[in-house]
Amino acid sequence: MSIQTENISKLVERRNNAKMGGGQKRIDAQHEKGKYTARERIAMLLDKGSFEEYDMFVQHRCTNFGMEKSHYDGDGVVTGCGTINGRLVYIYAQDFTVSGGSLSITMAQKICKVMDMAIQNGAPCIGLNDSGGARIQEGIDALAGYGELFERNILASGVIPQISGIFGPCAGGAVYSPALTDFTLMVKNTSYMFLTGPAVVKSVTGEQVTQEELGGASVHASKSGVAHFAADTEEDGILKIKTLLSFLPQNNLEEAPKVPTEDSVSRVDDLLNEIIPDNPNKPYDMYYIIRSIVDDHNFFEVHQDYAKNIIVGFAHMNGRSVGIVANQPKILAGVLDINASRKAARFVRFCDAFNIPLVTLVDVPGFLCGTQQEYGAIIVNGAKLLYAYGEATVPKVTVTLRKSYGGAHIVMSCKQLRGDINYAWPSANIAVMGADGAVNVLYSKDMKTAEEPEEKKRIFEEKKKEYDDLFSNPYQAAQKGYIDDVIEPRNTRFRVIRALEQLQGKRQEIPAKKHDNLPL
Ligand code: HXC
Repeated sequence: MSIQTENISKLVERRNNAKMGGGQKRIDAQHEKGKYTARERIAMLLDKGSFEEYDMFVQHRCTNFGMEKSHYDGDGVVTGCGTINGRLVYIYAQDFTVSGGSLSITMAQKICKVMDMAIQNGAPCIGLNDSGGARIQEGIDALAGYGELFERNILASGVIPQISGIFGPCAGGAVYSPALTDFTLMVKNTSYMFLTGPAVVKSVTGEQVTQEELGGASVHASKSGVAHFAADTEEDGILKIKTLLSFLPQNNLEEAPKVPTEDSVSRVDDLLNEIIPDNPNKPYDMYYIIRSIVDDHNFFEVHQDYAKNIIVGFAHMNGRSVGIVANQPKILAGVLDINASRKAARFVRFCDAFNIPLVTLVDVPGFLCGTQQEYGAIIVNGAKLLYAYGEATVPKVTVTLRKSYGGAHIVMSCKQLRGDINYAWPSANIAVMGADGAVNVLYSKDMKTAEEPEEKKRIFEEKKKEYDDLFSNPYQAAQKGYIDDVIEPRNTRFRVIRALEQLQGKRQEIPAKKHDNLPL
């Protein structure tokens, strides 16, 4: 065998060895838990044959606790780049078969390398997490590694889309990397995120919980909002990441790719003319309206199970990516509370950072009041959404379907927050508050002094009618130019698309500043 042939077979052998991670036994253990390995996940996510791996031969340099005796090529993370549907992405996948995917300084350096490349070359970065956290044997070095990684997450924020897939444990300070990224996806039953596990929780607070109850996918997707997506299986998770990417641009200087559609721009939906119930307190399903107006009825929802009184997600309109924000009258009458405000604000800011126009569908009775909301700082949290819309410079098209009251009217992308095109349906009701509340405030004295209940009722009905005639329609706002047109509901798709096309060249500045001071 020539020296060159021997060299090449050595390379092949080292490569094959590295591909085995922590060895067959640990790979089998991973499979027994119903989990894929890092390499299997990458293979599922990237286009076939597109993976370009880096740092396959990196090894840790730790000599504590006998670590010098155990070395694995690659050191617990697989990193590189590849394509998804032909588009470049950078990727890292933690390999649980090597020291439980725990983070060493060398592993952190591998991750930082691909993150730096992603930022420099303007491509999304996807992290697949499956790790026991900081590598205990490395002490402060491992913590420094996390610090380096977090700093990259921060520098990349708003420059390239960052997506975290949680495919196993993600505990301790490690959870802050996903929290700094744009979207976090968890897999039900096999992934969890928490600051400390159930054992520590029990010793500190006495509370007894399981891992799933403390930080499983359903908890974070529905209660805390930490996870934007909860996938049923790893395959489902991979598919969701791919779908999400299809709506996003490569970086903040590009537009999301156009997706050709057969769905006619001028498709009308007669059902929309009848969807608003006569009774203003009766709900209807906002999902129907969203799906009716977007291309091919295809809506990709974000935060589906969290703060369901507001709906956010991506769709295409005439092939172009849009971010949809819509109040959901079916849940809590579509009221804005703390969680709904935070959820929508984060989504609006993401869309604005990545040049994705916003389409807002409004039916909001106001902000939720009461001690629970006040103590939880609804004032500051509501201001987040106000701020997000006010600072957003992407095209903003708003359609008011029914109620748009008080502060919530202003917040939901009104004209004065530099809304570009604001339409209203004939059923729109743009006012300081609803008729019942207004009459009770304005005429409470008259009603109190009325001697007979019939007289009280008469005053109430008379004033309510007066208020309804004046405000329970879109024309007060239209007369003043606060909305641009009253449109027939069946034409909404067509009108919104035409507005978006018109706004394609939009250029809008905000005053120069170091950075804003969003009410956190
Ligand atoms: C070194 C680790 C490790 C770690 C796991 N391993 N976590 N090695 N550092 N943090 C190793 C185990 O020793 C074992 O090695 C292998 O990974 C698999 O672990 P098991 O415990 O056998 O697996 P499992 O039963 O599935 O349990 C997984 C686990 C558990 C729940 C993640 O390993 C665990 O609780 N690990 C510690 C989690 C933790 O507290 N991390 C520190 C968080 S603080 P062998 O050789 O036997 O296969 C933190 C600070 C970050 O991360 C701060 C950032 C600012």
